[in-house]
Amino acid sequence: LNNGLGKTPQMGWNSWNHFGCSINEEIIRSTTDALISTGLAQAGYTYVNIDDCWASSRDPTTNFIIPDPIGFPSGIASLADYVHSRGLLFGLYSDAGYKTCAGRPGSFGYEEIDAQVYAQWKVDYLKYDNCNSLLTKKTIKERYESMRDALNRTGRPIFYSACEWGVMLPALWFRTIANSWRTTMDISDHWYSMLLNIDINDLFADFAAPHGFNDPDMLEIGNGGMTLNEYRTHMSLWSIAKAPLLIGCDVRNLSKESLEILTNSEIIDINQDSLGIQGKKIRIDLTHDTEVWAGPLADGSKAVVAFNRANNITQTIVVLFTDLGWQLTSRVKVRDLWLHKDLGEFQGNYTAYNIESHGVQMLKMTLITL
Ligand code: DGJ
Repeated sequence: LNNGLGKTPQMGWNSWNHFGCSINEEIIRSTTDALISTGLAQAGYTYVNIDDCWASSRDPTTNFIIPDPIGFPSGIASLADYVHSRGLLFGLYSDAGYKTCAGRPGSFGYEEIDAQVYAQWKVDYLKYDNCNSLLTKKTIKERYESMRDALNRTGRPIFYSACEWGVMLPALWFRTIANSWRTTMDISDHWYSMLLNIDINDLFADFAAPHGFNDPDMLEIGNGGMTLNEYRTHMSLWSIAKAPLLIGCDVRNLSKESLEILTNSEIIDINQDSLGIQGKKIRIDLTHDTEVWAGPLADGSKAVVAFNRANNITQTIVVLFTDLGWQLTSRVKVRDLWLHKDLGEFQGNYTAYNIESHGVQMLKMTLITL
């Protein structure tokens, strides 16, 4: 979407994966504080996004949306002010149907008035869900364009994140509608859910570019359902695939290890690279259940993930330079991004030894001589 936003994938935090509907303004405030004190904000996670369950009803005369008086007694404007006062950006959620997925008021038919209110409240980001929309008899396209246009008319730059769960192959036609679009159903905090989402998302790699990215859903790192090794893989694949990096755990109670995964600056740099081209699978070895993912970077280097998908077996993976578009004779400099370590110069190929089951080596490769 050509609104100046989302030059690189959005980074921040969202309440849904960890808190679901059990949210309130105190959680949002303390999360904002924690994003700063942990260094996450400094690392680039700047959007503080509230998901479903902040709204309760509409004013019967003005139709203004009313925040839940129990969870958000001080109102949304003051919460947005708080987030801004700490130097971060503030995101809100609504739905392109009559009700949100959790049964709160949706924006269908109220796009204009809702967008105006968001702008008044100084909202910087809108996630727009797709529940309870069948009876509207309008297409996804019509419903999502209607909110896009209403947001544009406010004159306030508001990042527009479409959450249509990959229905109707949105990647094929959402570029002019939103800054990101979901390619999948909801992620859950399990290895196979994470894999399924990033595998589906990979099919649409060629449709991502600055100002419009594929969204395989939010991060589960820190929620406890996967091993640290698996969470490192989760972070590596989201980064190379130029997926939104939206933290979905309780950052007020984050282990040192999870924090390290989320703040690895060389991994984040791949995600935020200015070229904005989505890395994808370039070699699949079905016999060993290993893959090589790669994508180009602005400085001419390649980001590479050597990925051992197999269960219970440590394996070695060979990355062929010809797969990266280079020659058999090419000399290439290789750096390990998780370890922040130069591994040396290689010719023809690079062998990643002893990659643990469900683990990766994430690398940056730079051509020295063709
Ligand atoms: C479905 C979305 O895909 C989730 O990310 C979340 O926003 C829930 N709805 C909220 O009800």
